[in-house]
Amino acid sequence: MPRLDVTLGRLRLKNPILVASGTFGYAREMQAYVDFARLGGIIPKTVTPLPRPGNPPPRTVETSSGLLNSIGLDNDGLDAFIAKHVEALLGLGTSIIANIAGKNTAEFVQMAQKLNEFPGLAALELNISCPNVSGGVDYGTNPKMTAEVVSAVRAACDLPIIAKLTPNVTSVVEIARAASDAGADALSLVNTFQGLAVNWRKRKPVLGNGIGGLSGPAIKPLALRIVWQVAQAVKTPIIGVGGIQSIDDVMEFLVCGASAVQIGTANFYNPGLANALVDELDAMLAQEGCDSVSDIVGTLQPSTVALMQQAACSQNTA
Ligand SMILES: Cc1cc2nc3c(=O)[nH]c(=O)nc-3n(C[C@H](O)[C@H](O)[C@H](O)COP(=O)(O)O)c2cc1C
Repeated sequence: MPRLDVTLGRLRLKNPILVASGTFGYAREMQAYVDFARLGGIIPKTVTPLPRPGNPPPRTVETSSGLLNSIGLDNDGLDAFIAKHVEALLGLGTSIIANIAGKNTAEFVQMAQKLNEFPGLAALELNISCPNVSGGVDYGTNPKMTAEVVSAVRAACDLPIIAKLTPNVTSVVEIARAASDAGADALSLVNTFQGLAVNWRKRKPVLGNGIGGLSGPAIKPLALRIVWQVAQAVKTPIIGVGGIQSIDDVMEFLVCGASAVQIGTANFYNPGLANALVDELDAMLAQEGCDSVSDIVGTLQPSTVALMQQAACSQNTA
C-alpha cells in the first residue's frame, strides 16, 4: 500500500486531504457526516482577535459552477475560540491547523503567542488573503508586508506557519517568494477570487457587501495555474485549494506541484467527500505504482508546444 503521510516543512500530516477554513465551521457541525480521524487535517474558520459580526446579508450566492461569498470573517474572536472550540477540536484525532487574521502584525503576533500555548495544535495558517474585509493592512497583495508578518509570527511561536495567499494580485509568485523567504513552512494556494454577482433588474449587486470571493469548480483551472507557476519558482511545499470535488481534481493539484490539498466549497454539498478522497487517493496512488504521495507531486510535464519552443530556442542559440 502507498504511504499517505506527507511532510510540509515542520508539519507532518497523516494524509494530504485537509478541509479548508470557512467551509467546515469548527467541525461540530460536520460530526454526523465525517469521520474526522481519517482526515489529514481540519482548518477551522478564521479567528480574529476580537469578535466580528461579518458583512450584511445576503452573504452567499450561487453562480455557474461556483459560489460567491462575502462573509466578512464573522467569528466570536480568539478568546471564545479558545474557550469553546480548541479543546474539542484537539480531541478529534486529526491535525488541527488554526487559521488566524489580524489587522496588523502586532495582532497576528499576539494571536500566535496565545495559540502557541496549546501544544496539540499542528500549525497556524495565516489568512493574509481574505477578499471580504477592509480596515486592516492588505498583507497578501504586498510582498514586503507578507514577509514582515510571516517572519514576525515565525519568531513569536514554535508552530509551523502556513501562509494562505490571495490570487487577486498580478503575480502570486512574487508574494509566494516573499512568504517562502520569510520562513513559511507551507503556502496555501489559493483563497477566493474577487467577483461580482448582479441583479440587473434592481440595478444592484446581489451580495449585501457588493463584491465577494468566488470559489468552487469554476476556479479550479485558475488555482491549478497558480499552483503550477509557484511550484516552478519556490521550494516551499504547497497546499492546493480551489474547486476540488473529485479524486481526479486532487491528482491534478498534486501533479502541478501541491503536496497536499484542501477541500472547500464541496463540503457544503458533499460533506463526506474529504473522507472518500482519502480512500480513493490510496487506490489511485497504488494504481499509478507510487510508494508515497511525493512520487506524484510536481510530475506535470511541459506541454509539447513548450518543448518545441525550448528546442527552437536552443537551436537558435547553438
Ligand atoms: C463561505 C466561505 C467562507 C470562507 N471563509 C474563509 C475563512 O474564514 N478563512 C479562509 O482562510 N478562507 C475562507 N474561505 C476560502 C476557502 O478556504 C478556500 O480557500 C476557497 O473557497 C477556495 O477553495 P474551494 O473552491 O474548494 O472552496 C471561505 C470560502 C467560502 C466558500
